[in-house]
Amino acid sequence: MKGTFITFEGGEGSGKSTQARLLAAHLKQQGYEVLATREPGGTEIGDAIRSVLLNPEFSAMGNVTELLLLAASRAQNVFERIKPGLERGEVVICDRFIDSTLAYQGYGRDFDLKLLEALNRLATGGVTPDLTILLDLPVEVGLGRAKALDKLESGTGKGDRIEQEDIEFHRRLRKGFLELASREPDRFRILEITEGIEATRERVVEVVEKFLRNRG
Ligand code: TMP
Repeated sequence: MKGTFITFEGGEGSGKSTQARLLAAHLKQQGYEVLATREPGGTEIGDAIRSVLLNPEFSAMGNVTELLLLAASRAQNVFERIKPGLERGEVVICDRFIDSTLAYQGYGRDFDLKLLEALNRLATGGVTPDLTILLDLPVEVGLGRAKALDKLESGTGKGDRIEQEDIEFHRRLRKGFLELASREPDRFRILEITEGIEATRERVVEVVEKFLRNRG
């Protein structure tokens, strides 16, 4: 496909959404056509699915239901936005994608990785990221940041349905992301988050500009 597909991945409170937004603004300023999206969500249907997925009142949700809702949101996002954007030659930036399913549902919820890969293929029709930026930070720090943000957003500070999982769950998925990155070193860049937003933004921009230059 003509365009370039960049995804952001990481655990809770890693600042992915902020960095995805800042990268999109930077590339637009540089004259690129940019399409920014996220998962779950990114489309009207996907956003409706997202609100079901993350609603803390739906504590009765089973893991298979969760998985299929995530896949449905992804299928709609690829069909409606990501694939058309890539076909038009745009830089498509997605806040979370297939690797979140492998990390959260695979390493976190213990679904078979091969099954998840097959489901991802069904949902994406084979569209895969050209570059994946993994924002990595200690679980305790990330969860603290996510809950502080939630306090501002919802006033509860308890986190959404998935953030409320215990700390071992979050430790497993961090390990998962790092394993996925080590399996595909050409696609992944791991950025350890030790500094503030602006310093991280500069590192993201550096990585992406180098990648785009090398692609020509
Ligand atoms: P976030 O993008 O705002 O962090 O929220 C999305 C939540 O959904 C987050 O807890 C991770 C979770 N998630 C999965 O469990 N699997 C997935 O495939 C995706 C895209 C998200």
